[in-house]
Amino acid sequence: MKLTMNKNSENISGWKKFWKSLTKAHDLGTEEDILLDHDYDGIKELDNVLPPWWLYGFYITIAASIFYYVMIFGFDKYNQFDEFNTEMTDAKAAVEQYKADNPQLFSTENLEVLTSEEDLAKGKELFTTKTCVVCHLADLGGSVGPNLTDNQWILGGDMKSIFNTIAKGGRPGKGMIAWEGTLSKEERQLLSSYIISMQGTKPAAPKAAEGDIIWPEAVVDSLNTKVDSIAPVK
Ligand code: HEC
Repeated sequence: MKLTMNKNSENISGWKKFWKSLTKAHDLGTEEDILLDHDYDGIKELDNVLPPWWLYGFYITIAASIFYYVMIFGFDKYNQFDEFNTEMTDAKAAVEQYKADNPQLFSTENLEVLTSEEDLAKGKELFTTKTCVVCHLADLGGSVGPNLTDNQWILGGDMKSIFNTIAKGGRPGKGMIAWEGTLSKEERQLLSSYIISMQGTKPAAPKAAEGDIIWPEAVVDSLNTKVDSIAPVK
């Protein structure tokens, strides 16, 4: 028991020694030894040495700066621009890989128009809850955004175009934002299908038609069943 205690006290004094060697703090009570002559209106100054722990850190930064200087300018290593470009290239490749691995999330090929009552109800629900109604109104007659029931489209009225408009948004500054960050592909598919199902319906106060992509009226009337194969008039 006695032995252990001795050992402990030795450790503590060893630790204290080490600590002191790192701080080189002047012993309390003997400040006079390092007191400078200057007297600044009664304020006196002690000539303490810089603490070694701090100095070593400073030396390490100098050594590191020399190392990087030589590496970057001498050997063209650790170049931040190259590192940035490499990371960007890797990230882009990873995105492409992810797209290739999950085609169902990104591809608009063979995008199916959903027609079951259940899916259309889900689409309607999304149209209301995802704030589309604020700009397009509940009957899709249009207010800030265009009328979505008529045969005239700004960005295209086929499944793929509507799906893409919701994903990427409208023309800059018009107010139709890109929703792909907020709405999943399934949600966009449900919304597009719902919008298509509303073609040719009669909203209470339809906004005047906008856009240059015009569908034949007859097609609009039958749009809720088939869409992708039909081409607009112009
Ligand atoms: C802040 C208002 C606003 C909100 C919210 C909004 N839209 Fe739009 N939307 C617009 C405007 C404005 C346009 C016209 C864009 C243009 O002129 O390029 C538009 C265009 C569209 C079009 C294309 C119309 C065409 O003629 O080609 C579709 C489809 C559409 N919105 C669907 C939606 C859906 C679905 C939602 C909800 C997820 C939604 N919008 C939410 C304002 C809005």
